Formats: sequence, C-alpha cells, structure tokens
Amino acid sequence: MDLGLKGKTAIVTGGASNIGRGISLTLGAEGANVVIADLDEKQAAKTVSDIKAAGGKAIAVKADITKLDEVEAMVKKAIDQYGRVDILVNNAGWDAFAFFVDTTPDLWDKIIKINYVGMMNCCKAVLKPMAAQKSGAIVSISSDSSRVGGPREAVYSGCKGAINSLTKTLARENGRFGIRINVVSPGATPPKPEDIGEKSMHFGVAGPADSEEGMKALLRLYPLGRVGTPKDIGNAVAFLASDAASFITGQILSVSGGYSVVG
Ligand SMILES: NC(=O)c1ccc[n+]([C@@H]2O[C@H](COP(=O)([O-])OP(=O)(O)OC[C@H]3O[C@@H](n4cnc5c(N)ncnc54)[C@H](O)[C@@H]3O)[C@@H](O)[C@H]2O)c1
Repeated sequence: MDLGLKGKTAIVTGGASNIGRGISLTLGAEGANVVIADLDEKQAAKTVSDIKAAGGKAIAVKADITKLDEVEAMVKKAIDQYGRVDILVNNAGWDAFAFFVDTTPDLWDKIIKINYVGMMNCCKAVLKPMAAQKSGAIVSISSDSSRVGGPREAVYSGCKGAINSLTKTLARENGRFGIRINVVSPGATPPKPEDIGEKSMHFGVAGPADSEEGMKALLRLYPLGRVGTPKDIGNAVAFLASDAASFITGQILSVSGGYSVVG
C-alpha cells in the first residue's frame, strides 16, 4: 500500500533512539521529511544520517519537550525548513522503575513533565498551524501499562492514561479542522544497544529482556511469542499518520503482540 507520505513533514519527538528511531526511519523510508526533535544531538545526528543514507530527508532540532518555548522554536524551524507540519509523533518519554511507595514527589514531577506535559506542549505548538492548513495527524506513543497496569511504573502509566484521554478530547475538538489524533500503545520494546544514545532511559540500565530468564518470563505474557521492535511501532504510526487512516481518530491502538488483549 502506498501510504502517500512522500513530501509530508513529520516531527518525531525523541526520534533519536530506540522506538523513536524506528518511527523516524520508517517515516523517512516512506518519503516523509523527518524532523527529529530530541535532547540527544549525537544520537539524533546518527539517525538523520541513516535516514539520508537510505535516500530519505531529515533534520535534527535540539529541543526539550518539557519547555513550551523550546517546542515552539522547534516547530518554527520545521516550518522554516519544509514549509509546513503535517504529522506530529509524540514519542519522547521517560521512566525509572520503582514501586510507588518508594518514589518521591521530585520523581513524579520529572515523569509527569516528560511524559504528559511534553506531549501537551507539542500538541499546543502544532494544532494552530495544522488548523490553519485544515489538515494534520498527531500520533502519540502511550504504553500498554496504561491499559492493564504496570508494576513499578505507577506514575508513568498514569501519564500514559492521561495521554489516551487527552487524545480523545483533542480528537473531538479538532476533527472539524481535518486533524486526526490517535495513540499507538506499545508493550515491551527493548532496544538494541547500538540504537540508543546516552539520554535513552535504557542506557546503562539492565531490563528484563537482557537476561535469558527475564526474557522467558516476559514472553509468557505475549501471545504472539515475541516482544516488540521499533519497526512494529513505526509501521503502526506510519499507517495512522497517513490518509489510509483518514476515517480513524481518537483511537488507542495496542501494538504489543496481544499483551493487553484483556485490557
Ligand atoms: N521501550 C519500551 O519497552 C516501551 C514500552 C511502552 C511504551 N514505550 C514508550 O515509547 C516511547 C519511546 O520509548 P523508548 O524505549 O524508545 O525510549 P528511549 O528512552 O530509548 O528514547 C527516548 C528518546 O527521547 C529523548 N528524550 C527524553 N527526554 C526528552 C525531552 N525532555 N525532550 C526531548 N527528547 C527527549 C531521548 O533523548 C531519547 O532519544 C516512550 O514514550 C515510552 O514511554 C516504550
């Protein structure tokens, strides 16, 4: 299927590492002009160069999504470079695993700012230009922890639930402007070490997928018998961002091999 993304401009927050990198590479391969908005300039440059090496177009713009002024400046740079913004992918996120009773208000604040306020900042910055052009697609990356809970991810999963809910309201408010707003909700999508930079939440952190025993336990939760890849998420984002999904808005699509089939 030709998704018709050629020449469309797509901002991908956190587009340098792991899932964001997979989304950026997929959109780049589909012919979109990719704007990687990330804190990690070194890893963003690597992803930009890989998109270009495959024949695509991309730039990196350093921006902290928790700061509205930096987000607005990043959107302006995207429009200066490519003329318009057609797609926003709210992918940047962060967590540190801990049981809720052991967490502190400072940690809650950091998690809420990156995962939820960051997404709101980016939506606010693109909705007006998208409304003016009477078209646009926003896809936000949530998590299946928002649907079925995620032990040691309490505040993070709350933020992801907030992303799901905000998406539904924004979809209702902005459909009249031709803007569609959806969510892709991954399950475990562990990174390859070469696909992450130093600002990735996985950098230097051993996850369950890193040991044979941990992976075995993880796979029992996945009816399709494997964990996710950044390409799995990139494919779903590309579909929802494209005109092939022109009658889909306000939806949460789990891309997680059946992990949350009961949620
Ligand atoms: N990896 C998983 O298993 C998994 C599962 C479910 C949901 N998710 C979600 O998918 C998204 C991507 O996850 P990932 O595993 O690729 O994460 P990651 O930590 O590997 O990559 C996140 C990227 O965001 C950037 N970033 C962090 N804070 C930023 C900020 N304030 N401003 C701009 N950029 C910032 C980082 O530099 C990095 O490049 C996140 O929203 C995450 O919550 C991941």
